[in-house]
Amino acid sequence: MKKVRLVTAATLALSFALPAAAQMSVEDQIVARKAAYQFMAWNMGKIKAQAIDGDTAFNADQMKAAANAIAAVANSGMGALYSPDSAMDKAEDTRLKPEFFQQPERAREVGMNFGREANKLQEVAASGDKAALARQFAAVGETCKACHDDFRAK
Ligand code: HEC
Repeated sequence: MKKVRLVTAATLALSFALPAAAQMSVEDQIVARKAAYQFMAWNMGKIKAQAIDGDTAFNADQMKAAANAIAAVANSGMGALYSPDSAMDKAEDTRLKPEFFQQPERAREVGMNFGREANKLQEVAASGDKAALARQFAAVGETCKACHDDFRAK
């Protein structure tokens, strides 16, 4: 009896975990992840303009909003948008290299590094410290680049 209940619980957990990934077509995964990256790039651009280049006056609230948006994307479980069939050897309109699935540990590492630095960006932006934000912007940018260098085709 106890065993049956356990199995049922496990099956239920799985059925909650799967649909988001399972129902989404490869095409939709590609569209969604590209949009997510564009959205992050737009927000990174705002931080660059205000905290680094200075072409726009520094506005701590806007910086906070931009960093929150980046962190939200980073914490959204984007792994669900990466099925092995969505790499460029199998799908259209994507620059995702198949190496992403051949080097899972490296893929996990770059993803974790990005998540950690994005969360730190959110913290730093909340503090309103412009110089610290500029430094953390660079740290995040390095984690974007690390993944692109390994897993995004030119
Ligand atoms: C875990 C790996 C990874 C991280 C981290 C990452 N990217 Fe990317 N990025 C990719 C991949 C893979 C693609 C190609 C997606 C595709 O074509 O399906 C991409 C594509 C893009 C694109 C082009 C989207 C399009 O419309 O084709 C932009 C812009 C971009 N990334 C910006 C960023 C920025 C900015 C960051 C950091 C804030 C970032 N990325 C972090 C892997 C990553």
